[in-house]
Amino acid sequence: MTNDWLAGLPKAELHLHIEGTLTPEQQFELAERNDITLPYDNAESLRAAYEFEDLSAFLALYYQGMDVLITRDDFYDLAMAYFERAAADGVRHADISFDPQAHRARGVTLDTCFDGLLTAMRDASARLDVSSALIMSFMRDRDADEAAEVLEDAAPWYGEIAAIGLDSAEVGNPPEKFAAVFARAAELGIPRVAHAGEEGGPEYVTGALDVLNVCRIDHGVRAMEDPELVARLRESRMPLTVCPLSNVYLKGVARLEDHNLPAMIAEGLNVNINSDDPAYFGGGMVNNFAACVAAFDWDEAMCRMIAANGVRDAFMPADRREAVLAEIEAYMGA
Ligand code: HPA
Ligand code: ZN
Repeated sequence: MTNDWLAGLPKAELHLHIEGTLTPEQQFELAERNDITLPYDNAESLRAAYEFEDLSAFLALYYQGMDVLITRDDFYDLAMAYFERAAADGVRHADISFDPQAHRARGVTLDTCFDGLLTAMRDASARLDVSSALIMSFMRDRDADEAAEVLEDAAPWYGEIAAIGLDSAEVGNPPEKFAAVFARAAELGIPRVAHAGEEGGPEYVTGALDVLNVCRIDHGVRAMEDPELVARLRESRMPLTVCPLSNVYLKGVARLEDHNLPAMIAEGLNVNINSDDPAYFGGGMVNNFAACVAAFDWDEAMCRMIAANGVRDAFMPADRREAVLAEIEAYMGA
């Protein structure tokens, strides 16, 4: 199966940090525009620093990288560059998340983030026919009170937020820490997703389900260590947004061949695949599909199933969902 075939397969991306799409080249471009000096000579030496021992080593560079995002145009250009690459990868819809706390801590307002991102989302829909939805993520390694404050301050944009999420350093920051802010979002009628079971154990997944009342689990790979939880995830058809290359780059597994994704599929879990932070983890959706095809010997029917799973569980209007599912069927029949 060629990368061209994979690029032609209509897909949805459900687990994508827009700040993680910032390439070294764009980081230098924005640094220059904003008169910021980066601690690297050029994009090549920055890229050479992308060797991560674990999630926290990655997060240090990820948060440092986003320091170049200052203005509304920076957020717009970041998102539009992602949408262009995603469109070339056959992404027809993306649920993109952002980390407002990482920006507010640097003096960048919610208004700047929302204005740039939402405008790019509208333009991507019109110009590239890539639809999208916005997830506002909270950083679990910061105070829960701060997350609650961000949720209240985001009131003018509740109509534009598809969901809230929970990301950043997982171990030691269990879902229970965010029970109150997720309960508040539920009261506001805002759907909830959370990273769980990436580096944290299966109890983080159980906590996200029981305490945060999420409708999707981001990653979830360590759920496989708890058979009762696996049965629960299967029976509820809970979507798991697995990020194969991310797990390899952050050393969750030594090689993709060692990943439990095939076992998750064999267990009947509702998995889809995603790029997480494509600028840091070996590229976008086509690269993730191609890596799985190579590691797990997936055929076209398996790729179709995984692509359709993503489309079924994305935050998209029913008519758009049906149209993209029909595109997948037409592509397979062609
Ligand atoms: N895990 C947790 N937080 C993140 C990630 C991730 O893979 N990417 C960006 N923030
Ligand atoms: Zn993630």
